[in-house]
Amino acid sequence: MMEKCNLYTERLHLRELLATDSAFVGQLITHEKVRRFLGGPVSLDQREAVIACYFAFEEGETVWLVETKNSRQPLGLISISHHGDGQDRELSYQFLPGAWGHGYAAEAAKRVLDYALKDLQLKRLIAETQSANFASRRLLERVGMRELRRLHRFGAEQIIYVS
Ligand SMILES: CC(C)(COP(=O)(O)OP(=O)(O)OC[C@H]1O[C@@H](n2cnc3c(N)ncnc32)[C@H](O)[C@@H]1OP(=O)(O)O)[C@@H](O)C(=O)NCCC(=O)NCCS
Repeated sequence: MMEKCNLYTERLHLRELLATDSAFVGQLITHEKVRRFLGGPVSLDQREAVIACYFAFEEGETVWLVETKNSRQPLGLISISHHGDGQDRELSYQFLPGAWGHGYAAEAAKRVLDYALKDLQLKRLIAETQSANFASRRLLERVGMRELRRLHRFGAEQIIYVS
């Protein structure tokens, strides 16, 4: 992982993943609701391999565990990684359903976007989401990203958003 950079917002702490977070990552990636627009829940036999991917981010990529600042309650993951287009870096996020509807994901995304543009000095960040994923689209629009184009991938219509 390139950066080991802790970030803070009004309510949240974004920190590097620790080995002790494996169970939380496993919970997220096997959750039916969380994975609804992400290709479905990861199967039990794939679980360990997919968890390992989160601990093997490449140069130029960062994954943060998002937790509440006060009680250190883990809420979700947010990351910057290389997009499949080979040029851009992509913002991704997944939060447990118990954390939805509080504005936490948007708060974390805003902070990561700011970090990417100001600290990493990236020209832009993109995000790819299924057009059917309205919660994700609302979040991206709330943090000021806009639709760039649509394409078909992974068996569904996807929208590419840009900062
Ligand atoms: C995408 C995802 C992170 C969005 O989560 P979310 O909680 O809906 O998004 P936000 O953090 O922006 O919260 C916004 C909601 O909180 C509400 N809210 C409550 N208190 C708030 C506050 N203090 N500040 C801001 N919003 C607040 C808003 O009104 C809004 O509700 P609405 O969507 O009904 O209008 C979540 O649905 C998720 O993890 N999905 C599964 C993984 C996934 O699909 N990831 C995207 C892959 S592309």
